[in-house]
Amino acid sequence: MTDKKSRIQALISAIISYLQAHRAASPGVGMTLDKLEAMRLSEQALIDAPPQRSRHDTVLNTAIDAIRTPQLQEIAHCLKVAKDDLVWREDNAQFYPSGADLGQGYKNRNLHTMLIGPDACGYDHPDFNLGIFMLGPRTLYRDHNHDAPELYLNLSERSGWRFGTPDWQDYPAGSLIWNKSRAPHATLVYDQPFISVFVWLENVNSPCDIIQCDDWAEVEQNLANQSS
Ligand SMILES: [Fe+2]
Repeated sequence: MTDKKSRIQALISAIISYLQAHRAASPGVGMTLDKLEAMRLSEQALIDAPPQRSRHDTVLNTAIDAIRTPQLQEIAHCLKVAKDDLVWREDNAQFYPSGADLGQGYKNRNLHTMLIGPDACGYDHPDFNLGIFMLGPRTLYRDHNHDAPELYLNLSERSGWRFGTPDWQDYPAGSLIWNKSRAPHATLVYDQPFISVFVWLENVNSPCDIIQCDDWAEVEQNLANQSS
């Protein structure tokens, strides 16, 4: 096995180890692990995709360096080591119905790598996604939902979330967010970048739908004011 493949495999193993240690934290963790355990994540099955950096590489480095929680250090180390082996992409229109109002903040500051899934740089799977997702500082990821049940493992120290309500709640590093199919959710990124593991358990080709909310302009203006 090449060093590159071993680095990608180590990152996936570190994520699985964390989830195994937190199986009881959320029903979505067990469902995710059940799916992962049914997969053949062998050395031979690893894809050898040409790495791809992004325009957000500096922000990504900042996000990874800021992972401080002791229980996340294995993931942080493996991510740091494998980062330049991975294919980093920005969300594009394929995930959203045409004309979806994501906002310029999100469009300008989102990044992900797909470790398992269709077109992944680790393991190919037709209907499952596991990857790393990043948002730049002071970004609103507007309220949305999708058919895919979704699990987030937050790696960054603090992020705001809401689930169909006007109010936000902060979640710490190591927290797990479980969004059942079609459950609304939104993410608020403060003055440090947001980084997480994300999983879509099924229906990965169904697009996201944006859920219009009256306060987006106000929230985004507040974020912009904090940076000036
Ligand atoms: Fe989502």
